[in-house]
Amino acid sequence: MVQARPLLPSHLFLLSLLVFLLTVFDNGVQCSQGKKVLIMQKFQWNQESSISTCLSQKSRWENGANILEMKHKDSCSGKILDWNEKLQKHLIMDNFQLRSLQSRMKNITSGRNIDDSVDTQIPLTSGIRLQTLNYIVTVELGGRKMSVIVDTGSELSWVQCQPCKRCYNQQDPVFNPSASPSFHTVLCNSSTCQSLQFATGNSGVCGSNTPNCNYVVNYGDGSYTRGELAMEHLNLGNSTTVNNFIFGCGRNNQGLFGGASGLVGLGRSDLSLISQTSPLFGGVFSYCLPITEAEASGSLVMGGNSSVYKNTTPISYTRMIPNPLLPFYFLNLTSITVGGVALQAPSFGKGGIMIDSGTVITRLPPSIYQALKGEFVKQFSGFPTAPAFLILDTCFNLSGYQEVEIPNIKMHFEGNAELNVDVTGVFYFVKTDASQVCLAIASLSYENEVAIIGNQQQKNQRVIYDTKRSMMGFAGEACSFD
Ligand SMILES: *[C@@H]1O[C@H](CO)[C@@H](O)[C@H](O)[C@H]1NC(C)=O
Ligand SMILES: *[C@@H]1O[C@H](CO)[C@@H](O)[C@H](O)[C@H]1NC(C)=O
Ligand SMILES: *[C@@H]1O[C@H](CO)[C@@H](O)[C@H](O)[C@H]1NC(C)=O
Ligand SMILES: *[C@@H]1O[C@H](CO)[C@@H](O)[C@H](O)[C@H]1NC(C)=O
Ligand SMILES: *[C@@H]1O[C@H](CO)[C@@H](O)[C@H](O)[C@H]1NC(C)=O
Ligand SMILES: *[C@@H]1O[C@H](CO)[C@@H](O)[C@H](O)[C@H]1NC(C)=O
Repeated sequence: MVQARPLLPSHLFLLSLLVFLLTVFDNGVQCSQGKKVLIMQKFQWNQESSISTCLSQKSRWENGANILEMKHKDSCSGKILDWNEKLQKHLIMDNFQLRSLQSRMKNITSGRNIDDSVDTQIPLTSGIRLQTLNYIVTVELGGRKMSVIVDTGSELSWVQCQPCKRCYNQQDPVFNPSASPSFHTVLCNSSTCQSLQFATGNSGVCGSNTPNCNYVVNYGDGSYTRGELAMEHLNLGNSTTVNNFIFGCGRNNQGLFGGASGLVGLGRSDLSLISQTSPLFGGVFSYCLPITEAEASGSLVMGGNSSVYKNTTPISYTRMIPNPLLPFYFLNLTSITVGGVALQAPSFGKGGIMIDSGTVITRLPPSIYQALKGEFVKQFSGFPTAPAFLILDTCFNLSGYQEVEIPNIKMHFEGNAELNVDVTGVFYFVKTDASQVCLAIASLSYENEVAIIGNQQQKNQRVIYDTKRSMMGFAGEACSFD
């Protein structure tokens, strides 16, 4: 029979000593190594945007690299009246686009009959991306400045073109090919036209009365762009001109493109900006994604001179995992540590986590996610919890705090590379008053679905894609253009 015994003074002493020691350990060792301070005031949700035009993104040339200022596309779409609604809608769209992407990947990989050439012709566009693609740069096409969305999961670049059969509202004047002597259309019997099948999932077709190469890109939400494939001088800033850049001249475009003139594809196919500029930049590009505030700016760097990066930690490189079936960039995630504690899960090292600039929330196999959630909640204890929001199920009410210490999350990759998630990339604010702040990582439904590193965890990082060497690098950097 168990008897309740009163606590003796000696027990109380030991207990308080233990509490004292734990406190010292917690505040001293843990804080300096395993935690980072998140200052809540840093998240200012500006209603006003001081920028009246999308065209204000700057660029410069430095040591063989072309540096483009990169802004959140909200700086193009004007005032944000309801941040809460915006943040929540963003998450809903992120989930839609991912489900569409997963279903597309499943279709491709389940029908994997490699000797059937149809199966290797992959539709490269990926669902409802356009509403979650966030970052714009300003380029010059045929001598005209335009602001375009950048996306590592897209191949064909395109802009809206006059005369439009149908054009959505954009901020900059619509590109007018007839005013540009350097504009040329691509013929439908050319190999360039044939490469559309791989790049967009739809083959190029001859125009009804012309030998032009007509293209179609369909996005999963009903958005699309249609027009003809063309060539034009593309200027990426002051001194870098790409002659005869192949792009889509979109005559019929519909969707939520946030006021931008079009899109620039940074994917892996021959038609992407990276492939087309590879004689100039050696197939190397990198970005630093700023935090969500509309006024913050980051950079897209074309070219590989690492002397132009402003990284604050050394760059660590890992191998890209080749994937002949899927057009995206894949890495080998070997482990995750939370506050220095290494998680145990069977799916580490199985290869094939995708890294994407156009997905917001990181999605992990259930075994890894459960281990991560368990360890995170254990270390981030004592904070009031908040209800789950959609896929995000680790949520807190932090509205009573000026600052919080959050466990450091590091993703480790083959070759001892690591992505040390910035303090601003750990949580997603579902409500701006911080009463519902969730871990910006979610679980996949099945262990074998394709895992994704989203852009929330890539903020304030230099993320380097070296497509020639097939390597990818990470380093900490406080993003800014200047
Ligand atoms: C182009 O370069 C000149 C001098 O190098 C600089 O003053 C100007 O601001 C640059 N323009 C842009 C758009 O970067
Ligand atoms: C990279 O920058 C350094 C100066 O920091 C310069 O000496 C070197 O030539 C540059 N490399 C290339 C490939 O442009
Ligand atoms: C996947 O295949 C199924 C059945 O063949 C089809 O209904 C669905 O639309 C396909 N999904 C995508 C994203 O292509
Ligand atoms: C494509 O068609 C044009 C005429 O429309 C012709 O002059 C050219 O030779 C053709 N090219 C090929 C590769 O067949
Ligand atoms: C991932 O890296 C680990 C550790 O280097 C290695 O054992 C494993 O085979 C790699 N997985 C793949 C799919 O390359
Ligand atoms: C969140 O916490 C604050 C202060 O700690 C409290 O006043 C508020 O009612 C809480 N909000 C919700 C939605 O629970």
